[in-house]
Amino acid sequence: MHLEQWEKHYDEAFSDIKESLDNVRGMFVAYNSNVDAIKHISERDVSKLLSLVDLGEVQEKIVNYPREIVSPADFLSRLIIAMRDGKAAEVPTYTSDIHEWLTDHLVFDDARMGGQAGIISNLLAHLGVRKVISYVPWLSKEQAEYFADLPNLLHPVIEDGVLMLKHPRQAYDPEFKPRVNWIIEFSRGLEVKYGGEHFVVPRDNRLIISSRPSWIRIDMSRELYDRIPKLEEDVDGAILAGYQMIREEYEDGTTYHEYVERAVNVIERLKEGNPDIRIHVEFTSIQNKTIRKTLLKDIVCRHVHSLGLDTVEVANALNVLGHEELAYSVINKGENGIVALYEGAVRLLHDLKLERVHVHSLGFFICVISKDHPLDVEGHRTALLFGSTLAAAQASRGSIEHLDDAAVGLNVPVSETGYKELEILGKYMVRRGICSMDEFVDGCICTPTHDVIVVPSKVVKDPIATVGIGDAISAGAFVAMLAKMKSMKYP
Ligand code: GLC
Repeated sequence: MHLEQWEKHYDEAFSDIKESLDNVRGMFVAYNSNVDAIKHISERDVSKLLSLVDLGEVQEKIVNYPREIVSPADFLSRLIIAMRDGKAAEVPTYTSDIHEWLTDHLVFDDARMGGQAGIISNLLAHLGVRKVISYVPWLSKEQAEYFADLPNLLHPVIEDGVLMLKHPRQAYDPEFKPRVNWIIEFSRGLEVKYGGEHFVVPRDNRLIISSRPSWIRIDMSRELYDRIPKLEEDVDGAILAGYQMIREEYEDGTTYHEYVERAVNVIERLKEGNPDIRIHVEFTSIQNKTIRKTLLKDIVCRHVHSLGLDTVEVANALNVLGHEELAYSVINKGENGIVALYEGAVRLLHDLKLERVHVHSLGFFICVISKDHPLDVEGHRTALLFGSTLAAAQASRGSIEHLDDAAVGLNVPVSETGYKELEILGKYMVRRGICSMDEFVDGCICTPTHDVIVVPSKVVKDPIATVGIGDAISAGAFVAMLAKMKSMKYP
């Protein structure tokens, strides 16, 4: 299929989902929301920050790769790594020191809704999904202000033992404090010079300094937990994220085991409310390998239907699941990395007993589907194209206020680079007898063990911001998939 044909498919997919989105009765979204303090960093900012620290220490840390930010040198080393590789990363910090240091030395450009669940809740509400039930265990007054002021956006609260759904601005707990993450966005072409080193940033991306105060818990009150089935009566899908915030140990002696068990119970409870519900987990960069592994093996595996992740996250997931070589190939095989990426997605589908694995990469998506998924491959392709259009709209405008706004994403051209990369995968699959070139070119491939959808995506040349783009892709494609499934059921 040529690029023009893809553009046509994009137009058709958008109209299709625009018509069918209303079939989705409701969505449940949990757990993480925070305030993102976004700073687009310039060459001057980088030199200024570097002048404040010991360069030797930063260079040493670049080699040691800190997985937690304690000092400004930790921060700068991870920033340099992220800029050098053009890769997104999220690194936790457990005190407010670095936040204060950044506030002293940088002025952020914008404060926005952050956190996967927060971003996705607002997006779905703006798209007009009939009911978006968003649950944040630490909803503070300030955080609530960042939720879109829309009547279809609701937060569960228990009042006198009764479950109520109220707008987050009427549902916050005054006891909670806001959580602020710093998002350092950097652009392709930015030159970095330090201590004799010199490089040019290869790709627009960001580093997130994720604040993890000790009171953060991925949890739910007993009262709410008991009422989940009621909450779920007219909810067709759930998007869950934020598990990266689970700690191995807490000050009160509890460990991740308790939180994992509770997280699983919530998922099982959601299914009791609606046995047909589909549950998607949005993966992210998780520095702690124990938590990364437990999220995949104990929470996702067997409990969840769908997983969304980017290329680096696929490698990270494969790594903790014992596929180190494949993980290495995803990242280091250059052009042929796409073959490893596909093989990796297939591994994740089977190892984690999923129904759907959606990998988003700059320029293309690969989605692997189990044979027993009720929706046909064309329906899945429509859903992916819708997700890509949404993300393009968000990257070019900064936000989406209405489903009609998202149509601007259609004006963004399909990525030629992505299209060319897909050809490498196509040749591999044809050579292996997995499919014919015609099937590949159509983007819909059925194999005896799983189905695959490959689509080139729409890429904005100079995005307003990169943070949250992955969330728009995954949430857009997932809700569109539900819309297609529902229209199939109720023609
Ligand atoms: C993570 C970060 C948050 C950011 C989000 C974007 O949840 O903690 O700051 O807004 O990712 O996907």
